[in-house]
Order: sequence, then structure tokens, then C-alpha cells
Amino acid sequence: MSAAPALRVEGLVKRYKTGDEALKGVSLALPAGQVVGLIGPSGAGKSTLIRCINRLVEPTAGRVFLGDLELTALGGAELRRARRRIGMIFQEFALVERLTVMENVLSGRLGYVSFWQSFTRRFPPADIERAFALLERVGLVEHADKRADALSGGQRQRVGIARALAQEPDLLLIDEPTAALDPKTSRQIMRLIREICEERRLPAIINIHDVVLAQQFVERIVGLRAGRIVFDGPAEALDDAALTRIYGEEDWTAVRRRAAAEARLEALDEERLEGLA
Ligand SMILES: Nc1ncnc2c1ncn2[C@@H]1O[C@H](COP(=O)(O)OP(=O)(O)OP(=O)(O)O)[C@@H](O)[C@H]1O
Ligand SMILES: [Mg+2]
Repeated sequence: MSAAPALRVEGLVKRYKTGDEALKGVSLALPAGQVVGLIGPSGAGKSTLIRCINRLVEPTAGRVFLGDLELTALGGAELRRARRRIGMIFQEFALVERLTVMENVLSGRLGYVSFWQSFTRRFPPADIERAFALLERVGLVEHADKRADALSGGQRQRVGIARALAQEPDLLLIDEPTAALDPKTSRQIMRLIREICEERRLPAIINIHDVVLAQQFVERIVGLRAGRIVFDGPAEALDDAALTRIYGEEDWTAVRRRAAAEARLEALDEERLEGLA
């Protein structure tokens, strides 16, 4: 096994054609299995950072390594192959509405099967077995044959997670996974992501608006402000001073109160889950 961090970002700069400098030299390394919550005000560069990592957005400068592989040095087929190793999960789920849950999960395998197999949607049995196992893991097995557009928001996000995992990724990039969900469902989805990353030793970056949710479910928080990292530390270290550094001067009492309330709810959920186990 290599000792290299699972993901390493070095001096990433992104200047859009409009002149906007969205990233001004961002460096970050994640060991396997670590989940990082990326927080920061709107426009701070959170989405740009995760898109530069898989080069959906082309960085202006800097380097990105996935294990020993330099993603920023790849082109064409090599880049496509490397991208299979990166699972993306989006706020808007990005499911194919008229396809079933199972077909959506199998679409995570598209990078691996031949054009003809994907065209006829004839996937190898091993892929189908794997997809079933994933649906089981995210609690959707009984919905496998339902069309995606017949699911609730939380269920749709579970499909999104299963589809990303079907790729057998070495990294997850997750942009606002709970922005379209109610608070309880958001906690369930965050818990699921955290557990899955632990089980599979997957590193993940989660862009998340909700500081309370981030602090509750993620071990390490990175705070971005105007294209620069202004906080990087354990969730417990995110105090009012750090929040002010990230978001600017604000009264954090309401945030603290909500954090306490959510922690109580989460403790209740966990007790109930343990009771069921
Ligand atoms: N395609 C683009 N072309 C030009 N400028 C862009 C583009 N995408 C983002 N930007 C600019 O880059 C900066 C960072 O945007 P980005 O979307 O990364 O922020 P964000 O932190 O994800 O914000 P939000 O929390 O609102 O999603 C902003 O100033 C934005 O206007
Ligand atoms: Mg964004």
C-alpha cells in the first residue's frame, strides 16, 4: 500500500473567463476514510473546488493527486478512466426520472461496460448483484423496480449514493447532499454517508451550507472564504471565532441553540436505532 494521502490538492487556483478568481491557492490532503465538510458563504468557491478536483472545471493552476495518480496531468481516455474512481453525489440527485431505481444504480457502471451493453442496458450479472447489495445497504431494495420519479427526496438521494458507490470509487465528491431535504431526512442521509465512508475507507468532501449538520456528522471541517481556506480543523474546534472568520461577523447564538437541539434529536434517533438492532 502506498503512504500517499488518498487525495491531495496543491495550490489550486481557478480564474473563470469572467475574471472571477474562485480559488486563490487551495491546498488540502485527505487520508483514506476521512470525511471533510467544506463550508463557507455563497460564492466562496466550494463547488468550484470539488469540480476542479475531478476536472469538470479546469483548474488555472495547481495540482490534484488521487493516491499516486496526478489527475491534473491526465488527458483524454486516461482522465475518463480516472474519473470512474471518483463518485459524485449532487443536491438535485441527477437521476434519470423514467428509469427504475435499479437502472439508475446500474448507470453507475456505465464507465465499465461496453457501449453495446449500456445501449441495451444488459449489465453483467455481477453488476446486478452488486447493485442489489448497494440498494440493500441504502435501504431501498424493495423499491428497486420503482421509477425514480416515484420516490421521495430522501429515497432519491439514497439512489444517488448507491449509484456513486456502484462505480466502486476511491473518492466521493458530494455537493450539497441535503439542500433539498427536510431536517430529519438530512440527518439520515448524512449519517448514511458517514457510515459508508467509514465502512469502505472512502475519503469524501461534502459541500454543505448547514454548519450544524456539518459539525454533527463530519470529523474535519474546512472553511472556505473568497477562494481561500480560512479554517481547517476538527469539528469541535469550529467555535464562534472560527465561524466569524469564515462567514463574517454574525450572532451565533441561534446556531448554537439549534446545534444543541439537533444533537438531542440525533441521540434519540441513535437510541431508537439501537433498540431496533
Ligand atoms: N461557470 C462560471 N463562470 C464564471 N464564474 C463562476 C462560474 N462558476 C462559479 N463562478 C464564480 O466563482 C465564485 C465561486 O463560485 P462557487 O459556485 O464555487 O461558490 P460556492 O461556494 O459553491 O457557492 P454556493 O454556496 O452558492 O453554491 C463565485 O464568485 C461565482 O460567481
Ligand atoms: Mg456551490
